[in-house]
Amino acid sequence: MNNKFFCPSMMCADFTKLTQEVESLDAAGIDIFHMDVMDGSFVPNFALGVEDFKAIRALTDKPLDAHLMIQNPGNYIDLFAKDLGADIIYVHPEADPHIVSTLTKIKSHGKKCGIAINPETSIESIKELFNIIDNILVMTVNPGFSGQPYLDFVTNKIKKIVNYQETYHFKIVVDGAISVDKITELGKIGVNGFVLGTSALFNKDESYQVIMKNLKNLN
Ligand code: DX5
Ligand code: ZN
Repeated sequence: MNNKFFCPSMMCADFTKLTQEVESLDAAGIDIFHMDVMDGSFVPNFALGVEDFKAIRALTDKPLDAHLMIQNPGNYIDLFAKDLGADIIYVHPEADPHIVSTLTKIKSHGKKCGIAINPETSIESIKELFNIIDNILVMTVNPGFSGQPYLDFVTNKIKKIVNYQETYHFKIVVDGAISVDKITELGKIGVNGFVLGTSALFNKDESYQVIMKNLKNLN
């Protein structure tokens, strides 16, 4: 799958052997480490924190993206961009009344900015932001937990978002229940990036090396 990129969701990793996990994922050829941050308010869960970020940042030179599932993310951009070294920062417009200034702030740090949109969020309500973003992260599950089922109705929304790429050139990334079959299906539609959690990568019998080799060879 040429020019497609793969992002392991590190909240699914085994933190009892984090160094080994990061080094073997790195060696297996992943592209971006996907870091889920939650505040127990925007989503009813907690995931990766500041110390997890520092630990993984120190273990790899590969890009880290920060998927901020938090209220008022604008208050924390300096932390994630400057202190923790995130390369791409995704914020939810559903959680931010000042989304344009937040996205502008991310860019002012020289980082890539993206919006992450919930399954129910319409294209109409966010398409003005296409003028600013580098990436769009389309949630294909309700944000907050790994291991959930894929929401089929979101595929139609993805097909419509692909049509805007001709004009705006942002990258489309999908997040949630992304299996090997979904990678093939959505890759053909025009999706560029895939967050890999428990559906395609973690808790499998095969090694990360074998799984990534197979994913990169998919047609
Ligand atoms: C959920 C997170 C996802 C999740 C993916 O809110 O944003 O990144 O970890 O895990 P799976 O693939 O198991 O749905
Ligand atoms: Zn995520």
